[in-house]
Amino acid sequence: MPVTRRGFTLGVASSAATWCSGFAGELLMGATHAGGNAHPKKTRILFNENPLGPSPLSLAAIESHTNMLSRYPLSEGPRLEMKLRKMHGMTYRHATGELSLVPTPPLEGNTDLLLGVGSSEILRSIAWAFGTQKGNLVEANPSYSALGDAVATMPGTQLERRLIPLNESGRVSTTDMIQAIDSSTKLVVLCNPNNPTGTSIPLSEIESLADSIPKDALLLVDEAYIDFLPSGDKVSAIELAKNLDNVLVARTFSKIYGLAGLRVGYAVASTSVISKIKPFMLGRLSMSMAGVLAAEAALDDTRHIAHTKELYQKTNALWQRGFRDAGWKMTPSDVGFCWVDLGHNCAPLVSFLADRGVLICSGMRWNLPNYVRISMGTDSENDQLLSGIRAFKQA
Ligand SMILES: Cc1ncc(COP(=O)(O)O)c(C=O)c1O
Repeated sequence: MPVTRRGFTLGVASSAATWCSGFAGELLMGATHAGGNAHPKKTRILFNENPLGPSPLSLAAIESHTNMLSRYPLSEGPRLEMKLRKMHGMTYRHATGELSLVPTPPLEGNTDLLLGVGSSEILRSIAWAFGTQKGNLVEANPSYSALGDAVATMPGTQLERRLIPLNESGRVSTTDMIQAIDSSTKLVVLCNPNNPTGTSIPLSEIESLADSIPKDALLLVDEAYIDFLPSGDKVSAIELAKNLDNVLVARTFSKIYGLAGLRVGYAVASTSVISKIKPFMLGRLSMSMAGVLAAEAALDDTRHIAHTKELYQKTNALWQRGFRDAGWKMTPSDVGFCWVDLGHNCAPLVSFLADRGVLICSGMRWNLPNYVRISMGTDSENDQLLSGIRAFKQA
């Protein structure tokens, strides 16, 4: 990789830790400017949430168990874990699935699965478990930087952050990431599909990445958006996590399942990796009963998932036309959000739309002011976005 490119990436790394507060402030300003982010009538297409809401089966599961909301999810959490283990082909002894206060039956093999308060808790725990070492962390840029940001702000951190630019077609370059990995690498972070670009890479590239990391390093594959892909199962690194000692896959119920407000995520990794992050997790009592019940039901709601995917396909076609008409360049997206190059600073557009109650995400979050990330909305929210863009172009 040319020295100048590396210089650029390291330069970005040093400033990346500061975007959080700026981003939060920016959102707040956009929100208050437009009357408050919490206002129910806002078109909130900036956080990659599911605009269709939770699955009807999740809501029914909570409604029919309101008496359980006074209880800790000591049986329901393990039951959800077992359901997920079964879904991912992980075997265990005495798989009864019955309500009981006993912990999840022991697994066969050396793969484990752990629930978290959203996948955010898992990423944060990885930061504490692996981020205090001396060495380096390799990640794509722009990408979902929560883990890298957590490491960068940890007291006494000694991990150098290596941010690897996307390739010419706007995709994560595992070739460039592999070049940046060396014997001091402790963490490699891959978001697939990538946030904010919405692009995905094939499993073969993830396998090459996994082959290239030192034995004591961890490859995190963040699969928050994997369910949007038509062939999600084929692209997923879950089998790698089951077969290799140093790969962890993080998943969440916040995206296609529409449960961001209930905070449920999980990790699949070897028992040795899980035992390293577990001491930093909040533990069983931190999960909410409502979240666990909703997540369990959401897994069965194939209709809701299909509706969400249909809305995404429709929205994607609208984006392509709308942005082309506006003269902007959208990176082809595989998931429920898109990444758009305006060719000029995005601040006037972001605040123009905010004035009309349409909240989108500024590329400043990634130090890329010419870009915006836009999440899919309902049909009427998408209409508001596109009419807002037309008005902006005419203003
Ligand atoms: C790639 C990615 N990973 C993880 C998260 C955090 O998700 P959770 O709600 O499960 O904490 C997000 C949220 O936007 C995300 O985009």
